[in-house]
Amino acid sequence: MNLSIRPRRLRASKALRAMVRENRLDRADLIYPLFVCSGSGVKDPVESMPGVFRYSVDQLPSVLDAVVDRGIPAVILFGIPACKDAVGSGAYAEDGIVQQAARFIKADYPALLVIGDVCLCEYTDHGHCGLVEGDVIVNDASVELLAETAVSQARAGIDIVAPSDMMDGRVGRIRQALDEHGFQHVAIMSYAAKYASGFYGPFRDAAGSAPSYGDRKTYQMDPANGNEALREVRSDVAEGADLIVVKPAMAFGDVMWRTRQETLLPVVAYNVSGEYSMVKAAAAQGWIDERKIVMETLVGMKRAGADMIITYHALDVACWLDDAE
Ligand code: PBG
Repeated sequence: MNLSIRPRRLRASKALRAMVRENRLDRADLIYPLFVCSGSGVKDPVESMPGVFRYSVDQLPSVLDAVVDRGIPAVILFGIPACKDAVGSGAYAEDGIVQQAARFIKADYPALLVIGDVCLCEYTDHGHCGLVEGDVIVNDASVELLAETAVSQARAGIDIVAPSDMMDGRVGRIRQALDEHGFQHVAIMSYAAKYASGFYGPFRDAAGSAPSYGDRKTYQMDPANGNEALREVRSDVAEGADLIVVKPAMAFGDVMWRTRQETLLPVVAYNVSGEYSMVKAAAAQGWIDERKIVMETLVGMKRAGADMIITYHALDVACWLDDAE
């Protein structure tokens, strides 16, 4: 036995453990996702995501007050329109759901950062993230609509646009369109490494955005691939992305770490809907300690290289941070 090295020395007391702690969660890292729907007086629970609701714009204060009180600096908006069509026109309508919500938030909560999800799948009747011709999800024409969506969100006051569609070349085109319209200051948070994942199931229930046929494998990445994620990251950085998202987070810690090594841009982990629902379901059964599991999972994302985390747990985490152990 060689006991000249005793790592336990630095674990001996709470104070010492806190002093040598390498990573910390901070409320400033948190981004809270919000589903906004049409109508008024709506606060509709998402069945597969306990604690998550779809809000009509007039009901947003009930959640935004909590977000602000708990010191969460940013929300990311997902729109659920009343009507969907083949070209996803609700995504880029001047009075689209996200645009209305952004105007409302910017007027009443000016200090809150507002991020807009830029994608077509919540707005198309076929549920794909781009235009469809036959069996093909077409790239370049879809990119034009995504750029239009980004510009209309910027016009509504959004601070950061977050393209999540995985079409090629969209970051560059969105940057160009924003700049042409005088929105040089609006940042792009690019879902660069986004996988064709089973973990998005509950989100698609919430947004009614599951593809009505086929799947997303021709645009989202194969979960078996790591190098490809870095190619995506490189191209999005070259096209002018300001922040890089890795999504999902839990099963992709290696991708997060490699992304962290690859770029000096801020890296964002998206702790997605299925990751949330699994924890909630197991906690409801009494099989796991929800708080411990969530805090361990999220600090693990920071250890893997994330600077900030989009998470449905944000409101709970902000409370738990107040009495951190
Ligand atoms: C839109 C989009 C999705 C998510 C975020 N933006 C769904 C998808 O790609 O099918 C999923 C987020 C989550 O699961 O929490 N493309």
